[in-house]
Order: sequence, then C-alpha cells, then structure tokens
Amino acid sequence: SLLDVVVNNSLDIDGYGACEGTVTCSTCHVVLKPEDYDRLPEEAGDEERDMLDLAYGLTDTSRLGCQVT
Ligand code: FES
Repeated sequence: SLLDVVVNNSLDIDGYGACEGTVTCSTCHVVLKPEDYDRLPEEAGDEERDMLDLAYGLTDTSRLGCQVT
C-alpha cells in the first residue's frame, strides 16, 4: 500500500498513518490525479468510505493511502 511505501522508506510525514492501516483514522488521506485514481484495481470499500467522510479536504479522487495497493 502507499502507507507501506511511506513506512518502508522512512519518509518523515508527520502523523501519516496513525492507525497503522487499521482504517480507524484518516491521516493517510491522499488525493490522486484523476488518471491515477481511475487506474486503481479496486474501489474504496464501505469502511474506507466512512473514514474518508471524516478526512480534511475530501475530493472525488480521494483515497486512504493504507488501502491503495
Ligand atoms: Fe489510518 Fe489509513 S492509516 S486509515
């Protein structure tokens, strides 16, 4: 997932991925380019959509980084 990329590369993004991928925060919110969003193999599930509703600056191409593979 995008969260794994952040963790595995020791990227210092303050507070990113606070729940470690358990879909109980929205700190891993990412806004994708439409063309990238459309290429994702899976749509957001119910759990992800519920958390995205709480994300700051939600857009039509928002996803949770921990759910994007
Ligand atoms: Fe918390 Fe993705 S890391 S929802």
